[in-house]
Amino acid sequence: MTGPRILLIVGGGIAAYKSCELIRLIRKGGGEVTCVLTEGGAKFITAMTLAALSENPVHTTLWDLTSEIEMGHIQLSRSADLVVVCPATADLMARMAHGIADDMATTLLLATDKPVLAVPAMNVRMWEHAATQANVRTLIERGVTVLDPDEGAMACGEYGPGRLPEPPAIWAAIRAALGHEAPLAGEAGPDLGASDDLGGLNAGLIHRTTVSDAVFGKAGEGEAPLVSPEGAAAEIPPADLLPSGPPLSQKGMAKAAPPTDAQAINHLVGDTAPPEPAGDMLADLPVADLLTGQGDFEPALPIDGPLTGRHVLITAGPTHEPIDPVRYIANRSSGKQGFAIAGAVAALGARVTLVAGPVHLPTPPGVDRVNVETARDMAEAVKRALPADCAVMVAAVADWRTVDVAAEKMKKRGSAPPALLLTENPDILATVSVSDKRPKLVVGFAAETEKVIEHATEKRRRKGADWIVANDVSGDVMGGEVNAVHIVTGAGVESLPEMPKDQVAMALAERIADALAAK
Ligand SMILES: Cc1cc2nc3c(=O)[nH]c(=O)nc-3n(C[C@H](O)[C@H](O)[C@H](O)COP(=O)(O)O)c2cc1C
Repeated sequence: MTGPRILLIVGGGIAAYKSCELIRLIRKGGGEVTCVLTEGGAKFITAMTLAALSENPVHTTLWDLTSEIEMGHIQLSRSADLVVVCPATADLMARMAHGIADDMATTLLLATDKPVLAVPAMNVRMWEHAATQANVRTLIERGVTVLDPDEGAMACGEYGPGRLPEPPAIWAAIRAALGHEAPLAGEAGPDLGASDDLGGLNAGLIHRTTVSDAVFGKAGEGEAPLVSPEGAAAEIPPADLLPSGPPLSQKGMAKAAPPTDAQAINHLVGDTAPPEPAGDMLADLPVADLLTGQGDFEPALPIDGPLTGRHVLITAGPTHEPIDPVRYIANRSSGKQGFAIAGAVAALGARVTLVAGPVHLPTPPGVDRVNVETARDMAEAVKRALPADCAVMVAAVADWRTVDVAAEKMKKRGSAPPALLLTENPDILATVSVSDKRPKLVVGFAAETEKVIEHATEKRRRKGADWIVANDVSGDVMGGEVNAVHIVTGAGVESLPEMPKDQVAMALAERIADALAAK
């Protein structure tokens, strides 16, 4: 066994089912998982499911003579490289913060000498309650890494921070906690392979992030998250303000617990070169315009360019989520920026697959276009288009779709409007970032209306992307002809001046060519 050994404590929250996906990701990444299921957790998910997925015995009680003889709870608490509490309920964190050891989970947490990562999930009021926040602060002070929950619609019908982060983001945090390059580093996703030994901890080199009072926005990719909580994002302090702690030490004494994402704060993404200054972006465009002057012909594409031999996958436009045969949920994305990027990378020689939502834009020369309507169609088309050297996810994927699509047009019934029950769409960017076929360079877009760079920095970490291109959409960017973007990478932020979208596209295409050449 060369991968990380994770002791996964599953608490009693509605999000317990997501631990199944997490186990799958850890194992796919070469790790081993042993599960501890709390009494509360067992109300939501069975030990049998966890045992089947982890292929390991599941520990549910302190008072099991056989288990205690086979592997005592103290030994169990130390047999892993990392203890992950997911979901970490308010109750579990309260007991952890107060040193209570009245079941298997809390006894292990008190006895362990290994780093602990807690992934909270609860109702927004529970999360914001002063008691929970005080407990979280206590845990952080004692060296536990506590992830900020996502913000969004809750199973209980309320809205706000408290949702469990998506399993790919948790997996990225686990890798970071183990001192390993998260998938951000341009590796082939979680495919750790035999040589990729996470068993050895290197967390002493890593700074600790603190939980923020603010919480993440849960935006879809691209220009226009649908009804997204734009206003909230975790704030990551500059790297030089972070405490530089001693090497990871024992729980209780630890002052430098692993970070939720050390790499995303200030680092180079793999061996990717930091972006060059914009310069005169179009001056050297190697377009061999062989057909110049020949009427309506499209300009020819270069036979040889810096992206020749590369496959670039791009998503663009909105998605439409049907409500009934005539109505749908949509957003204001025009697709112009994504189409321009497709054209620019094609002009530099790339083979381009453009997965386009419903827009009426001409296909740029040299681009293979796949038209889709919904987020799920788009996710499927992206999956089919991989592998690629680079993925640029510009589309404004609707965060939600209706649970049911009415077969017939919904009729007005008196004054009562129909209730639309929404469910979450797939997170295409996060999925590509942890895919077996992860492109060498994964670029996401973020549409923001405030704290643009902070939110984009956080989105980069959360989604596991190499770069996030952030644009301020508070003006008339959506559907407009110009854009001003900030390219957020592991090396820092490059802000480009406002310019036409095709020039933004070419600036990005040139940086993509440079980054791929450096890999
Ligand atoms: C339907 C239902 C859903 C619940 N969801 C959550 C939740 O998401 N987060 C949480 O902190 N508590 C939640 N609770 C409360 C916990 O289940 C309760 O505090 C339990 O004691 C926690 O068990 P644990 O300490 O073993 O995790 C929920 C309770 C019910 C009945």
